[in-house]
Amino acid sequence: MRTLGKLAVPPIGFGAMVLSPGIYGSVDDDRALDALRHVLDHGGTHIDTSDAYGPDGHNERLVGRAIKGRREEVVVATKFGLAVPSGVGSRAIPVGYAFGELRGNADPSLVRGYAERSLRNLDTDVIDLYYLHYPDPGVPVEDTMGAVADLVEAGLVRHAGLSNVTAEQLRGAHGVLPIAAVQVEWSMWRPIEPDLLATARELGVGVVAWSPLGSGFLTGDVSKLEEGDFRHNAPRFDAENLAKNNDRYAPIRLLATELGITPAQLALAWLLHQDAHVVPIPGSRTPAHITENLEAADITLHPDTLARLERALASFDVVGGTLL
Ligand SMILES: NC(=O)c1ccc[n+]([C@@H]2O[C@H](COP(=O)([O-])OP(=O)(O)OC[C@H]3O[C@@H](n4cnc5c(N)ncnc54)[C@H](OP(=O)(O)O)[C@@H]3O)[C@@H](O)[C@H]2O)c1
Repeated sequence: MRTLGKLAVPPIGFGAMVLSPGIYGSVDDDRALDALRHVLDHGGTHIDTSDAYGPDGHNERLVGRAIKGRREEVVVATKFGLAVPSGVGSRAIPVGYAFGELRGNADPSLVRGYAERSLRNLDTDVIDLYYLHYPDPGVPVEDTMGAVADLVEAGLVRHAGLSNVTAEQLRGAHGVLPIAAVQVEWSMWRPIEPDLLATARELGVGVVAWSPLGSGFLTGDVSKLEEGDFRHNAPRFDAENLAKNNDRYAPIRLLATELGITPAQLALAWLLHQDAHVVPIPGSRTPAHITENLEAADITLHPDTLARLERALASFDVVGGTLL
């Protein structure tokens, strides 16, 4: 087990986003529920979702169905701030996707309503880890997290988290209530900001790595996207960039083969070796992939291998901008 603040979780969690339609390839609810049950049956008891994945809380409702009758086994993590109720205003949040911005509202007056809606979707009475999904440019994170502190006080939330924040925002929020985890895009093709990692370490905050497989790229299996795949919005997956990135990634894929593991496992094991409190949350619709990913927790990389990998990563010249 690893710890995120005072919350104990397995070294590798599960990101459920891919189980809603329109993300990375086709899926239906039966396949999604099979995937979630496979995760739980194989010790992946930290499930990450959001009220913004899929329409009308679809992803949270899937998670709620999967954990029915086994709630005590599971650490349920969800997020708020992007799924703004109809009739309520929102502000632009700039991102590196082709569409340019998300919209959100993290006004403190909305936070209890967000949590109550998520609790209904998840069919539970407490959220184990509750993240602000993206900071709202119009509201200081300290104010938003003050409302999360009220939820902790009321027993609706056990631990607080922040996603997609700066080191300064993390420090500010941690002054309002203890933050268990900061969630950030971190993988072999997306380094973490050094000051964010240093601040998390100093404050005893765990780091949850989102898209730890580079939204699938680092598995080595993505050479073409289906129509309707959300990654069409990500510059690194633009057809020309994707082909170049795959060529440039070849030495790292080869290293995985030499080690007798898959590229996905190397990507996850590499992350686990970066810090004692990092927890990757890969997503998958496919039971064999889920097992493969969870097994990466048992892989030890020799210091010589890590040094070789760092050299290969230093010359892995990724084409296409980042998402944040
Ligand atoms: N906080 C945020 O703003 C934020 C943003 C993005 C994501 N997230 C979180 O991070 C989680 C994971 O991120 P992600 O889904 O974007 O990307 P990811 O975990 O990096 O990659 C998922 C993709 O990899 C494929 N895959 C997984 N394991 C594989 C394996 N062993 N072999 C071959 N292919 C494999 C999956 O396809 P198959 O289905 O075919 O296995 C899926 O298309 C999300 O579910 C979400 O919870 C958070």
